[in-house]
Amino acid sequence: MIYVTRPTMPDINEFIGYTKKIWQNRWLTNHGEFVNLLEKKLKHYLAVADLLCVTNGTIALQIALKLYDFKPGSEIITTPFSFIATTNAILNEKLRPVFADIDGGTFNLDPRQVEKKIAPNTKAILATHVYGNPSDVVGLQRIANKYHLKVIYDAAHAFGVQYKSQSILNFGDVSTLSFHATKVFNTIEGGALVVRNAALSKKIKLLRDFGIVSEEKNILAGLNGKMNEFQAIMGLCNLDSIDQIIKERKSIYEHYVEGLANSKVKFQSITASRYNYSYMPVCFVNKHKRDKVCNALLRHGIMARKYFYPLITDFNYVKYFVRRNELKNAVLAADTVLCLPLYPDLNLGTVDRIIRIVKNNI
Ligand SMILES: Cc1ncc(COP(=O)(O)O)c(C=O)c1O
Repeated sequence: MIYVTRPTMPDINEFIGYTKKIWQNRWLTNHGEFVNLLEKKLKHYLAVADLLCVTNGTIALQIALKLYDFKPGSEIITTPFSFIATTNAILNEKLRPVFADIDGGTFNLDPRQVEKKIAPNTKAILATHVYGNPSDVVGLQRIANKYHLKVIYDAAHAFGVQYKSQSILNFGDVSTLSFHATKVFNTIEGGALVVRNAALSKKIKLLRDFGIVSEEKNILAGLNGKMNEFQAIMGLCNLDSIDQIIKERKSIYEHYVEGLANSKVKFQSITASRYNYSYMPVCFVNKHKRDKVCNALLRHGIMARKYFYPLITDFNYVKYFVRRNELKNAVLAADTVLCLPLYPDLNLGTVDRIIRIVKNNI
C-alpha cells in the first residue's frame, strides 16, 4: 500500500543516544532539557522571535484562543476548508465560528469574504495556511486593523515556509504549528505557538502548564499542554535533516507538476517565496472525475486523500453555524481536490505510475 504520506524517521542511533541521556536525567516532562533545546533550535531555524512547544497542534490552537480572554459566544471568522481541528478549537473554547469563503486559487480565506462576515461581536480571524500555502496576510491584517480584530494563523502545515523572504510565522498576532507524525517536521505528536510579544509568551507558558505560577499560586484555568522529552528528542533528530527533507519533497512535487502539466488538472496557486511541499493537492474538473481517480488509485493500492472533504461546515454539529450557499469556492475545492502521495522516500517510479493512473482516468 502506498499511503498519502509516511512519517520521517530519524537515524535510530541518534535517537537512542538521546534516549540514553533521558534515562540518565530521569526527567521525562515538565520543560526538560531537550524541550528547551528544541525550542531554542526551532526559534533559530524558523527565524522567529519566540516559540513555545506544546503537546500537539490542537492544544496550540486552543491556547492561542485562550490568550485573549474572549467572552463566550464571541465570533471568530474562520475557514471551512481546513482540518476539523481548526473549528473544533473554536467550539471547545465556547466561541462561535463564522465561516467565510476561500479564494479558489490559493484555497485560503479570501479577505473580501471575511470582511462581509464582520459583526459587532467579531473578535478574531482564524485562518489556515492551507497545505502550507501562505494566506493573504496583508489583506487579512488590513481588515483586522480596520475592525480591531486579532489574527491567529493555523500554520499546522506551514513549517519552514516563507512569504516575501520572511517566516510566514511572523505574521498576525499568533501562529500555531503542528508537529504531528504526518507533518513535514514531526515530534511524533506535538506543536508550538509562535509570538512576537513577551507578555504573550509569558501567558502561553502559564496556559500550557495549568496556570501555575508557583507552588502555591495558580492564576488561571490553564491546560496541560506540556511537550515531553521523548517528543523533543524526536524533533531534535528530525530537525537535523529538515532541509534535505524539504529538498526531496520539492523534487517529487516538481515531478508531479511536470508529469501532469498537459492534462486537465490544476494546481494550487502557491504564494510562498520558500515553500515546504507539504502536500500534493491536485484539482480536477469536477467531483465525479476526482472520485473516479481516487477509486482507481485505490484499486492499485495507492491511497490518495480527499483533504478536506467533507467541508468542516458539512458536519452536523457545525452545520448549525452556516449558510452553505455562501461558501461556493470552498464547496468546489472540497469536491474537486485530491492530495496525491508525497513524502521524501517515495520513489519517482511510483510517482510516474500514479501520474499514469491519474491521466488514464480524467
Ligand atoms: C490545519 C490543521 N490544523 C490543526 C491540526 C491539528 O494538529 P494536531 O494533530 O497536532 O493536533 C492539523 C493536523 O493534524 C491540521 O492539519
